[in-house]
Order: sequence, then structure tokens, then C-alpha cells
Amino acid sequence: MPTPLRLGLAGLGTVGVGVIRMLASHSDLLSARAGRKIEMIAVSARSRTKDRGVDLSGFTFEDDPISLACRDDIDVFVELIGGEDGPAKAAVDAALNAGKHVVTANKAMLAIHGQSLAEKAERAHVELRFEAAVAGGIPVIKALTEGLAGNQISRVMGVMNGTCNYILTRMENEGVSYNEVFADAQALGYLEADPNLDVGGIDAGHKLALLSAISFGTKVNFSGVELEGIQRISITDIEQARDMGFRIKLLGVAQITGRGLEQRMQPCLVPASSALGQLENAANMVVLEGDAVGRVVLRGAGAGEGPTTSAVMSDVIDIARGFRRFTFGQPASSLKDIQAAQVSAAAAFYLRLTLKDAPGALAKITRALADAGVSIDRMRQYGHENTAAPVLMVTHKTTRAELNHALQGISDTGVTLDEPVAIRIEDV
Ligand code: HSE
Repeated sequence: MPTPLRLGLAGLGTVGVGVIRMLASHSDLLSARAGRKIEMIAVSARSRTKDRGVDLSGFTFEDDPISLACRDDIDVFVELIGGEDGPAKAAVDAALNAGKHVVTANKAMLAIHGQSLAEKAERAHVELRFEAAVAGGIPVIKALTEGLAGNQISRVMGVMNGTCNYILTRMENEGVSYNEVFADAQALGYLEADPNLDVGGIDAGHKLALLSAISFGTKVNFSGVELEGIQRISITDIEQARDMGFRIKLLGVAQITGRGLEQRMQPCLVPASSALGQLENAANMVVLEGDAVGRVVLRGAGAGEGPTTSAVMSDVIDIARGFRRFTFGQPASSLKDIQAAQVSAAAAFYLRLTLKDAPGALAKITRALADAGVSIDRMRQYGHENTAAPVLMVTHKTTRAELNHALQGISDTGVTLDEPVAIRIEDV
């Protein structure tokens, strides 16, 4: 009978507790699938005494996650503490130095330190796995590193922050303001301790940077992600985008162009009828495009106890089976250091303007667009009862530089009453 795989778990939040529960409830299934028993040996968390609704009496409790990571009687260190540095990073370093495999859900740590940690894991001949770090229960790391390993990946896209998708879909479906839904999301415990990680697009940007590294064989480059959050999205934009057949999503897109590695995480318009456009509430979706396979769309829960535990356990089972895989799908030393594209690929844009209702106002706007080389595809002026005329435009494909030039020209006309809103329309 093979020896059991012995785990040490640091972090007893929702997911840590989920792992303890799954080990208890699925013990036979896990052993059967892994070909050996999987046992929790020791745990670590900030409070020893807090009631978490699970029985921890069978495990040794370590106050210090680093001591846990270095124990002689564990094979795998499961890091569910979170945070890009601090105790999580120190304990993961200690575990790798001690020759332990590491399973983590920590996207922030990997987005910043992924390259050095992957190198360290390879030097120690151990696994560093992070299925739970990207899109929760969706097995996207496995899909990219295994199922699609034979493909040249041309583009990766995804809605990978459930909280933002929840906020945007509730705003659209119920016509309520950003601030109101934000408050509800906070009351429901959806938001991270620092809400800006969610609504500022940072959490989703971390995930995109990890997917890019695997997809394109590049070093993780989070600082190269063009980031914009959803805080400035108004109910007006949501409703008017819908009128034009679009929905607004916090969408990540990564691709390599002639200008370098393009990584964007920003609010985008997508066709309402597309799979991404129809993604509701807190669900996540990742779209992978490979030269041989074509397009693969994965949809599922991106957070929560069950989905994230499911992802953690898939890594643990792989390690129990003796599967070996490079952290980012190829040796860390072979990951390329490609420069971030300074200019995004051309796209159509949605523009919302509020104009003075005066003769010639619209002519000045179309002149400014023409002078910048931006062509109008569709346009609509809404009925209004005051002196402010709301105008919506969809441009033909243009570069961001041309669009910025046009926006400057529009501002110089003096006929706008508000800051124009410009949102990219993504080809999905
Ligand atoms: N806060 C994230 C989300 C889950 O809302 O999707 C953890 O990354």
C-alpha cells in the first residue's frame, strides 16, 4: 500500500475550512482517485480557538505558518493565507526551501513573485501548483497546461472577478446604482478586505497575468497589465450600451501582437448575445483560443468554498499521483521576457457625450472625430427636455491614440457638458 500524502494547511478561512471538510466527506473517493490516502497532519491560522464549524482536534496546530511549512511530517504545504508578501510568501519560500510541494490559491503572490517561486520550485524538484488562484472552480490552469498543451494560444479572454460581474449584472437587471450594489456586495461578504482589489480590477488583473504566462510562455508580468476598474461605470452607460446591443463586462484580454504582449483588464462592451455577454451574476468565464483547437469556453463559479476547494484538491490529487508539471507549463528558465505592448490593437469604441443643444454642436463633434481619423459606425441622439443632448456613438475600429486625439478635439470644441465616456468594444 503506498504511503499517504501528508498535508500541512495554512489559513483556515472559507477555503481552508472547505479543504478540511472535503478531506472528511470525500475521503474514500480521494484515496481511490489518488491511489493513496491523503491526510491532513497540521494546520495553522491566526486564531487557535475560533470556532470554524469543523473539528480540528485531529491535527497539530502551529501558530507559525513557517514552522508548519518546514515540518518533517508533511509532504505538501497548502497555502491559503493570501496576500502578495507577508506570512504567505515567507511560508511558501520556507516550504520550497524545505523541499515541500506547494499548493496555493494566492494569485497576488504569484502575479508578483511567480517567476522566482517557479524557479525555486524547479531547483528543489517540487511542484508549485495554483489551480485555485485563477477563476476558482474552473480548471483553466489544467486546460492550458495539459489539455491544450499542443496549441499555439493566440488569445485568452475572461471575466474573472465574480464580484464585479455581480455588481454589473445587478445594475443592469435592476436599474440600481453602482454605489447601491457595491454596498449590497459588501454586506454579502463578496468583496475582498480591500474592495479595490475587486472593483479596481487588480484581482482579475493578477489572474490574467498568470494565464498570459502559461499561454504565451512569457514571464509573469503583472505590471504590464493595463488596468481599469468598474467604479466609473454608470447606470446610464449600462442602459445605453444595452440599447445598442451590448453589455458591459470587466473583461481581461491577453494576446501577443507585433507590438509586444498586450494585457488589458478593463470594462469593455461585448455583444449582448455572446457567451461573455450572457454571463450573469458572480459566474466566471474564460475563453481560450488555440491554433489547433479553435475556441474553448469555460464557465463556472470563480469563488466560494466548494469551487475553490475543488481546485485546491485537484492539485493535491495530482501531486499524490506523482504527476509532474512545470509551474507555468514549461521550465521557468525558458519563459520569455517579452516587452509589454504600449499600444493596444485597434478596436471600435462606444462614446457617450452630453452636448449643448445648440445649432452646429453635433457638426463640431463629427469634425473633431474626422480630424483625428476616427470614423463613425453608428450614432444616436436621445430625446431630451432640457438643453443637454445625450449622444451615443459607435466608432469603426480605431487606435486608442487616434481616439484620445479625437477626445481632445471634442473637449476643445466647448460644446460638451460632461467628460465624454469612451469604452472599448471587444471582438469576442
Ligand atoms: N474576489 C474574487 C471574485 C474571488 O470576486 O471573483 C477571489 O479571487
